[in-house]
Amino acid sequence: MSRFNLFVALLTCVSLLPMRAAAQPSLIPLPASMQCGEGQFRFGEKLKVFVDAYPGDSIATVFNRFSASLTKVTGIKVSRAKEAKAALRLKLDKTLGTEAYTLKVTPDAIDITAARPAGFFYALQTLGQLLPSRAVLAGVSDDTKEWTVPVVTIADAPRFGWRGFMLDEGRHFFGKEEIKKLLDVMAAYKLNRFHWHLTEDQGWRLEIKKYPKLTSVGATRQSKVLGWGDTKPDGQTYAGFYTQDDAREIVQYARERFIEIVPEVDIPGHSQAAVASYPEFLSCDPQNPHEVWLWQGVSPDVINVANPKAVQFAKDVIDELTDIFPFGYLHLGGDECPTSKWEQNAECKKMLGEIGSKNYRDLQIHFYRQLMDHIAAKPAAQQRKLIFWNEVLHGNTAPLGTDITIMAWVGADGAALDAAKRGMHTILSPQIPYYINRRQSTLPTEPRSQGHGTETVEVVYNYAPMNNVPDNLAGKYMGVQANFWTEWVEEANVVQYLMFPRLAAVAEAGWTPQPLRKYPDFLKRLQAEPDFYEFMGVDYGKHVFQENAK
Ligand code: ACM
Repeated sequence: MSRFNLFVALLTCVSLLPMRAAAQPSLIPLPASMQCGEGQFRFGEKLKVFVDAYPGDSIATVFNRFSASLTKVTGIKVSRAKEAKAALRLKLDKTLGTEAYTLKVTPDAIDITAARPAGFFYALQTLGQLLPSRAVLAGVSDDTKEWTVPVVTIADAPRFGWRGFMLDEGRHFFGKEEIKKLLDVMAAYKLNRFHWHLTEDQGWRLEIKKYPKLTSVGATRQSKVLGWGDTKPDGQTYAGFYTQDDAREIVQYARERFIEIVPEVDIPGHSQAAVASYPEFLSCDPQNPHEVWLWQGVSPDVINVANPKAVQFAKDVIDELTDIFPFGYLHLGGDECPTSKWEQNAECKKMLGEIGSKNYRDLQIHFYRQLMDHIAAKPAAQQRKLIFWNEVLHGNTAPLGTDITIMAWVGADGAALDAAKRGMHTILSPQIPYYINRRQSTLPTEPRSQGHGTETVEVVYNYAPMNNVPDNLAGKYMGVQANFWTEWVEEANVVQYLMFPRLAAVAEAGWTPQPLRKYPDFLKRLQAEPDFYEFMGVDYGKHVFQENAK
């Protein structure tokens, strides 16, 4: 062990073991409390397991998935036993929080407690990281001969309830199998929100039954690359969308991993693909041609919010989203919405007068108010809370009330504080450094993307959420989220290269108490991740590991 690594190992475990420091396991995210001991639990050919009863057999369902992978990868035969005879025991402790768990490993037994299935799920993710190979988490075969777990006592719970990742599939479309892979890695990092950015100027990616042209027209454009500067549209036909059945399959896959999906339909801006599908009622100038956009940037071709049919359209889309996605939140976007078309449109000018404002941004807020009223009139099971990007704070948001969530990206810390002071909830997704589509190094081998390579894994790691937030506003901060925009990223392997390992850094900010987060310690634990990425079949920024090896 190098002096550096020894120092890092001591940092975590020595205070708990006065005599000898045991090696620190490479867990990401780092648990809230961990005491390392000497020795290990050694798996035999057979494993007897006790699983506590739970309504709907939900703990058993969680365990069975883990156990199927354990058996497939290691050959260990798992059977159920009474508590006294079992070597692995999953027991309820109703005093723990929703996602909390304890995991105690001795040479004789492994004990897990949690109050809810999510806690058991996270305990098993941790157990998977404690094994000598990440193959069990990935469910792929491996040549490890001896399966052991180090002696350790963990008491763990997340710092934040919202630990998210957003993928933009409006600009480029990757498909179901890629999404499932990302959900698998998210689950291993204990991330619990997948924000699915499904619509953009450059493509509408979700079937909406009432408006079939959204996908028959809006999901296709005549260029794979998106033009910007010297990069011109290439003339290729480029298309892709999810059917509602596809989306439901993803919903189920995510649920099994305790990930909620937050679908985003970005309206009324970033909507040129929708406008091109139904210009007759969505555009401000239906007499002109409209096409799915071939360029990067912010299109001025926004939805005509003063047309009652456009408002009805948005309500109908919300109805179908509510039906497909059974989770608590919908994201209606709201970022970067130019008002220039509204300023030229007679209906919009008239409506601005009717609502008694001179600020065209208020038309956007008025549009959202009507959508909120529509949702509020639904039965309880179909109620959804709304999330918006922080630009909506620039209008008169009073009509939206305080029961909305602001996703803070531009000037994120200030915007989040502003939202919290106004009584809204907020999520921190700072463009710098949490937009993990930006180049992650200055190396010439870095793929084409946004940024200059300054958002390194270290910079991402060192962002401290909720710095200097007054205690009385702390409850408004729901958590953190990494975002991935795909203007420059056409292929799934490039998405993966850019997002890993930086997603691990954001995951740790979402889970681990801030005082325990130290970059040298994280970098040391990170060295176990390449194996995991290889087993999962995802690409990653390899230079992060090569640099450390020097
Ligand atoms: C954003 O980056 N436009 C939310």
